[in-house]
Order: sequence, then structure tokens, then C-alpha cells
Amino acid sequence: MDDRAAVLGLESSCDETAAAILRADGSILAEAVLSQQAEHAPYGGVVPEIAARAHLDHLPRLIEEVMREAGLDYAGLAGVAATSGPGLIGGLIVGATLGKGIALAHGLPFVAVNHLEAHALTATLPGITPEPVRFPYLLLLLSGGHCQCVEVAGIGRYRRLGTTLDDAVGEAFDKAAKLLGLPWPGGPALERLAAGGDPARIPLPRPLLGRPGCDFSWSGLKTAVAHALARLPGVATERDRADIAAAFQAAVAAVLADRARNALALMPAATALVAAGGVAANAAVRAALAGAAEARGLPLVAPPIRLCTDNAVMVAWAGLQRLRLGLVDELGHAPRPRWPLDGMAA
Ligand code: KG4
Ligand code: ZN
Repeated sequence: MDDRAAVLGLESSCDETAAAILRADGSILAEAVLSQQAEHAPYGGVVPEIAARAHLDHLPRLIEEVMREAGLDYAGLAGVAATSGPGLIGGLIVGATLGKGIALAHGLPFVAVNHLEAHALTATLPGITPEPVRFPYLLLLLSGGHCQCVEVAGIGRYRRLGTTLDDAVGEAFDKAAKLLGLPWPGGPALERLAAGGDPARIPLPRPLLGRPGCDFSWSGLKTAVAHALARLPGVATERDRADIAAAFQAAVAAVLADRARNALALMPAATALVAAGGVAANAAVRAALAGAAEARGLPLVAPPIRLCTDNAVMVAWAGLQRLRLGLVDELGHAPRPRWPLDGMAA
């Protein structure tokens, strides 16, 4: 594929509406992301119907914006890539259908992108690291919807080494934050509260730490936060809340590092530990993961926050990799709310 070939990427699987145009050499011609946080905040979480309608309201305009900014017309594109799962079905239908419509109208190839594959391949985008990240690497996907250890051996070659037995790690942050009286999404607010706290005064359990395997379990930790608050002699003071937040964050960071160590032990040829998803923005989590990677003599690669959280640059990039291999999808491809990475063919 010509380095200058450009692909339009669309993302609408959760609560970010996004469009981006990338060249095959990885240069970003245009990108736009619209967060729906304000629309969902009153409900304390993502409401699927509100999300689908918001994608429908905003995605066509975002597409026009990035096309204008890139200075391209549709006929000048080499293809269209849209997230087609896993995620909320309403949003997936909006993005995939728009993408197929553009592909059909302009005779372009369409790529149905797996959202998890897009997160997994972000680390290989030129410019993320001074030297390109090489396969195989360990991916820790830490978001509001996912919590997985994945061996990334190549495009389309993934092996899930561990996953959560209950909540996703971002969900655990959000639930703990809610118990601490913080607004949704709670991760960033909990991190700020924890900054002034003592993680040792009110210790919390560290689920599965020291146990074999690479799975996660967060619901007990959330319950422990509720119990810690209930056991306080009176109403929680600012200091109590900060100490519990700090203990929660320390517990999560320690468990993530422990699971990462176990996963790396299964990957003797790993070249790096890559962290993606909103929780990878957390400084305590990053520090703990950096420690786990360093113990193996490996770097921790964490893409910049805007590429770690949901975005369309990663969708266009994954689409480009697939197009390069001639992996095009039919316009009849149905979006898949559940679409595991394991067994994805390349
Ligand atoms: O990847 P992401 O932006 O979206 C999806 O889940 O699709 O992840 C959002 C999650 C939320 O649960 C949010 O609370 C959490 O990431 N998060 C954080 C931080 N920033 C975002 N958790 C802990 N510390 C942070 N600084
Ligand atoms: Zn995501």
C-alpha cells in the first residue's frame, strides 16, 4: 500500500463519538473526539439509548469536519474502517452503517474493526515510542468496560492470558468513587482525592495478589471500601475519604503489577509491557506497571492519554493494517456486541 493512502476511521462503541483520518505511514491528518460524559453523568453511568442517539446526532458532522481538515474528498480515501464490536449495539450500528454507506457510495473497501484490536495495536503507531514496538508484547487493557491481559503476537494474532471474573477495573474505580461521594466517571476524581491520603491507615484487600494466573477480581475490593466506610466511628471525614481512596488505588496498582508479572512470565519473548484504556492514565497504576516491566528488563509503553482512551485514530490504524493484508469486510458484516480477540483471523 502506498504510504500516502488515507483511511477514515470511526469509533462509536461506547460513549465517545470519534472520527479520524490517517495515512498508511501513520501520520494523523485529522482527528476529532466528542465525549458524551455530560449527557450520561446525571445517570451515574453510560445509558445505551442516550449514547446511540448522541452518536447519530454528532458522527456525521465529525466526519465532515475531519474530511475538511484533511483536505480530502471521499474518492481520495483508500478505505473506511469502523468499530464493529465489541460494545453497545446501538452505537455500533450507527458507526458501522455510516462507514458502510460512505464505502458503498464511493466504491471504497470497508473494514469492520474490532475495538480491542484497535486498542491492542495503538502501541505500534509510529511516534508512540522512539523505536517501533515489536511483536510480541503484553497488553494490559484497563478501561471502563475491559480488564484483560493479552499476548499480542502480530496482527490478528492474540491470546487472552487473563480477564476479570467480575467488574472491569475502570468500573471498580467508578464504583469506589461513588461510595466516596465522587461524581462519575470517578477514576480521575478518586486519583485526586487519593493524592492527599495515607494508603496504610485503613488497609484494603488485594484480590488474587500472589495467586497463580492472570485473572482479576474487583467486586470484593469495592465491597471492602463500603465496609471501611461503614466501620468508621462517625461520618467520614475528608481525611478518612482520602485515606480510603489512597488504599484503594494502592491495592489496584499492586494487583495489576502482580498480574502483569505473571503474564510476562508466560511470554519469554515479550519486548514490552503496553498499557491502554482510561485507567492507564492513573499515575500510581503506571508506576506499579513500570516496576513490573522493569523487573523483566522491559519498557512500559503507555500511549498518550488521548490515544489510550477511546478514539478513532486507533480504529483507522487497525483498519490500515488489515487493508494492507487485504482483509476487507463485506457490507453485510453485522456489528457484534460481543467479539472476543481470541481467534481473530488475520
Ligand atoms: O478507556 P476509557 O476512556 O473508556 C472506556 O471504558 O470505554 O476508560 C474509562 C474508565 C473510567 O472507568 C474512568 O473512571 C477510568 O477509565 N479512568 C481512570 C482515570 N482516568 C480514567 N481511572 C483511574 N485513574 C484515572 N486517572
Ligand atoms: Zn475502549
